[in-house]
Formats: sequence, structure tokens, C-alpha cells
Amino acid sequence: MTAAASTASPHLIIVTGASRGLGAALVRALLVPGNQLVCVARSRNAELEQEAAASGVPIAWHLQDLSQPSPAASWLGSVLDAIDTQPASVTLLLNAGVIEPISPIAQLQEATLVPHLMTNLVSPMTMTAAFLTHSERFGCPRKVLAISSGAARRPVEGWSAYCAGKAGLDMFVRSVNAEYAQAPAERSVRAVALAPGVVDTGMQATIRQAEFAQVDRFRALKENDQLTSPDDAARKIAAYLARPDFGATELDDVRNS
Ligand SMILES: NC(=O)c1ccc[n+]([C@@H]2O[C@H](COP(=O)([O-])OP(=O)(O)OC[C@H]3O[C@@H](n4cnc5c(N)ncnc54)[C@H](OP(=O)(O)O)[C@@H]3O)[C@@H](O)[C@H]2O)c1
Repeated sequence: MTAAASTASPHLIIVTGASRGLGAALVRALLVPGNQLVCVARSRNAELEQEAAASGVPIAWHLQDLSQPSPAASWLGSVLDAIDTQPASVTLLLNAGVIEPISPIAQLQEATLVPHLMTNLVSPMTMTAAFLTHSERFGCPRKVLAISSGAARRPVEGWSAYCAGKAGLDMFVRSVNAEYAQAPAERSVRAVALAPGVVDTGMQATIRQAEFAQVDRFRALKENDQLTSPDDAARKIAAYLARPDFGATELDDVRNS
């Protein structure tokens, strides 16, 4: 773990799944003066860590397996408890996710289904709980941005685990907003579940290698160079996060912005 000196009143942003793909691009997009980042994944990205260190933006890197909901929540609670500067705002950016198992529903097995749902749904819920509890002392604006998917909102044959988990995440975001709708300003929270488009990451490579009814569509998107680059998606998501009306549309798609 490395950490640089913090600024006076930074926007504190916790990014999960920061090591690769969209998460790594989000870190790059958020490396702007005035931000302070806490990044977490199971593995490191030396190149990104060097880039971040050179930017001068305060950043800390943590290794944590987010398929384990209780340790994930404890980790986040202790990270927030250790923040010793008053943030201007605090954001939980729930990006870490997995696509597998891709399989017919009749072949679903607990051994792969449970870790999937722990990573994509249960840990985001326990981490949000820890976030709400341990960030309240800041009394500053709080945001939860969950990276959702079009698959939360329409079924894809073979992706039932992913569709169900992301649909659960969408409803969880709506539940956060409902529960905090009447909260006083110093406790308020705004949450959004945002689909990022079809982004050229390792997850898409895994999808193209799988066998399911619509796989040819995903292979064609890559062959025809129609995937969004992680950096483009991340820039749009970072701009979305900064919108003054963040939270006005709780289930959104970055392609609408
Ligand atoms: N790519 C797309 O087209 C697309 C479309 C819609 C939605 N999304 C969503 O966008 C998000 C990012 O996806 P991506 O395409 O960037 O996927 P990716 O390239 O596979 O990267 C996934 C990230 O999540 C982290 N992660 C996975 N399991 C983890 C665990 N148990 N503990 C901690 N970190 C874990 C990985 O880090 P480690 O392996 O180092 O732990 C990695 O940084 C996901 O929520 C995904 O569902 C992607």
C-alpha cells in the first residue's frame, strides 16, 4: 500500500475493482487535483500505481477479496475510520464485478453461483452499509455509484447469475435512495446504478470465449470495433459522478448522458 499526502478538503472516492478494465480506467479518469482515491482489488497494477504516484493525487492501494462480504465491509469501515481530513464529499464507486458463471440455468451450481453473487451483490450491499455507517461523521455529501449493466434490465440467455445479481444491485440502489429520502442534509446519500455500455475489457474477452445464444453479437461488436474503450467510458462516468443532479435518475445508462 502507498499513500501520498492529502489535500485540504478533497473529494474522497473509493473505487472497487481498480486493478484492471473499467476500474483501472476510472482511477485514471479520477486522477485530478482535488480528489483523494482509495483503490481496492485482489491484485496490483504497477503501471497504474506509478501513473497515479506521478499525478500527485493522494491515493492508497488495498488488496482485498471482495467475494467475502464481511471482511469487505470491515475493511471499508476501517479505511473510513482512518481518514483524518474532512472530505468535501465521499463516494463509494462499486465497480468490481465478475461475469462467470455463463451457463444454462439448468446447469447452475452453488459452487460458482455463490461467489458470483457475493462479489456482484452481497459485498456491494455490506460495503454500502459500512460506507453509510462510517462516513456519517463527515457530515458531507455522500454518493454511491454502482456500475450496473444493461443485463440488469433485460435478460441475456446464459447470464442468469449476472442478470439477477445486477438487477438486485439496481433494486438495492433504489432502496438506499428510498431509505435516505427524508434524511437531513448532513446524513443525506444519493445513489445511482449506472450501466457503462459495452466496454473493451477482460470481461468482454471472457464473454466472447463463452458459449451462449447471443455470443455472436458480442464477437461481432469486437470484430467491427464497436466496443467503447475503457478510457472513454471512464471519462463519461467521472463526468456523470460530478453532475450537480447526480441521483436524479437512480437507474441510468452512461450512453444517455
Ligand atoms: N465490460 C463491459 O462491457 C461491462 C458492461 C456492463 C457492466 N460492466 C460492469 O463493469 C464493472 C467492471 O467490469 P470490467 O469489464 O472492467 O471487468 P474486468 O476487466 O473483468 O475487471 C473486473 C475488476 O473487478 C475486480 N474484481 C473481480 N472480482 C473481485 C474480487 N473478488 N475482489 C476484488 N476485486 C474483484 C478485478 O480485480 P482483481 O481480479 O484484481 O481482484 C478487476 O479490477 C463490473 O461491475 C461489470 O459487471 C462491464
